Amino acid sequence: MCGIVGFTGNQNAAPILLDGLKKLEYRGYDSAGIAVLGEEGIHMVKASGRIQNLVEKTQDGAALPGSTGIGHTRWATHGEPTDVNAHPHMSNDEKIAIVHNGIIENYAQLREELQAKGFQFKSDTDTEVVAHLMDLYYEGDLKKAVLKTISRLEGAYALGILCAEEKGRIIAARHAAPLIVGVGIGENYFASDVTALVAYTKNVIYLEDGEIADITPESVTVYDSLGKAQEKTVTRIAWDIAAAEKGGYDHFMLKEIMEQPNAIKSTIEPRIKDGEVVLDDFSLTDEELKNINKIMITACGSAYYAGSVGKYVIEDLCRIPVEADLASELRYRNPLVDEHTLLVVVSQSGETADTIAAMKECKARGARVLAIVNVVGSTIAKLADDVLYTWAGPEIAVATTKGYTTQVAVLDLLAVYLARRLGRLDDQRYRALVKAIEQFPSLVQRAIDLNPNLPALAEKYHGYNDIFFLGRNLDYAASMEGSLKLKEISYLHSEAYAAGELKHGTIALIEKDRPVIALACYERLFDKMMSNIKEVKARGAQVLAVALEGNRQIFAEADDVIFVPQTEPLFNTLPEVVPLQLFAYYVARANGCDIDKPKNLAKSVTVE
Ligand code: F6R
Repeated sequence: MCGIVGFTGNQNAAPILLDGLKKLEYRGYDSAGIAVLGEEGIHMVKASGRIQNLVEKTQDGAALPGSTGIGHTRWATHGEPTDVNAHPHMSNDEKIAIVHNGIIENYAQLREELQAKGFQFKSDTDTEVVAHLMDLYYEGDLKKAVLKTISRLEGAYALGILCAEEKGRIIAARHAAPLIVGVGIGENYFASDVTALVAYTKNVIYLEDGEIADITPESVTVYDSLGKAQEKTVTRIAWDIAAAEKGGYDHFMLKEIMEQPNAIKSTIEPRIKDGEVVLDDFSLTDEELKNINKIMITACGSAYYAGSVGKYVIEDLCRIPVEADLASELRYRNPLVDEHTLLVVVSQSGETADTIAAMKECKARGARVLAIVNVVGSTIAKLADDVLYTWAGPEIAVATTKGYTTQVAVLDLLAVYLARRLGRLDDQRYRALVKAIEQFPSLVQRAIDLNPNLPALAEKYHGYNDIFFLGRNLDYAASMEGSLKLKEISYLHSEAYAAGELKHGTIALIEKDRPVIALACYERLFDKMMSNIKEVKARGAQVLAVALEGNRQIFAEADDVIFVPQTEPLFNTLPEVVPLQLFAYYVARANGCDIDKPKNLAKSVTVE
């Protein structure tokens, strides 16, 4: 969702801005633009559609000479994705250009006020008010004008600002939307995330809410919202440019699916020492743990489905009530949350607006917050009491894969860790569970290797418009993720149902040849699933079953089978979801879809 880049240095800014915007494409966007300060003032070019349109319009950036500039990819919220609504937005005198990620909630009042003062609005965006406010307050000092402007803004913003009268200077401002500063030698940058910067510098400064960064080629000075200089640490990013590139794969999604054994290894290996689960980053004392009488897991989308797996596993092992809640629902409920609640917040990006809001709501009611997050320094990581990072590396494809499986791996670790500390596991069971977790990387690799027939299965099923997923217990949790993967990248209509619910309505939709993907890996309920499979078969459905390696019974009913390797039954979802990710990938490929950038979707949903 909206991406921002800024550059100041001694080389041409435009190619660097375009390159940064390409790296941010994965966040989702529908238009893009750049503004560069040249000899004759600010030169701005915008284009709706793909960045390639902007590249062509600017002749690879050559049309905009100048070594200071800002750029933006826009994901439309206020106003259609047109050239006019694309960012940057300029003040009427073309002195100030700005880019913005977030939503200015009081833009309507500000717009009225500014119009009354004679400012002309060109776009339908909330953002344009910021350009005019900057113009109103600018009296020769960009920093002062920024501080005054942000004091008028309500809502969320990451802002990048360029001024025709301030050569070599750019300002970044952050409130409730991601923004980092890149520190180079004789050149400096800002961006929505590290992927845009990693080709140029690995040294970054994470801005806090309310902070602004005043950036020239030689200096970066960070101030709080009152203009007081802040001491900031420069952090070295651990991964390099190769991690943000396709590495020979046709799509980032496929690369990220294949990276899962390694990503899971990076996630679990440092947390298992001499056969013990060690969660050093989770500082809950025994006293505090005893005090917890409920665990709530909250997240959105796939992260919520990972949380749903966590619910089954934690409740089973810890014998504590566990709820999994959609953050977008939880934030507007009146939930029973207090200081006895452990809230587990799950998010790949760490920037999802609904998740942040639900977390703040529960925190205000006294909950202790543990975040499971992939992006270091993200808002959720900063707001949480404790953070368990997923260490999946950068996830570029919009549809999450390694983000999800590393979340599940951490939730499994957490379940075993808490159960042990609560005294709910004897030695033998504990050792068996830890051993099973240690095998996750090879398990996931085997789940990939076992299924070379997935492209052929995708060929068979890609032409159907409606597909149903069925499962029970953990298979149900996995089926929700499998179904979301399929629908979001292949645009097939797909629904996941708890198989026991079939008779309560869904079965009316089962007819001849309707594809049903039946997950039957949860052994305790295998017979029940077989009955459900028989029921849909009896109505003419084609069944693609997902079953444990070695299961022969499944052939009695299923038309096709995806096999997954055996593990501890509570941990089945990991090897089970991976072939479903691949199935979705190949179906989307067969349907000619834009797999890494599905239509209407954004990678990081930073607005409600
Ligand atoms: C689906 C997907 C989304 C995200 C959701 C939450 O493939 O990626 O459903 O899981 O938007 O995002 P994070 O985990 O960044 O909070």
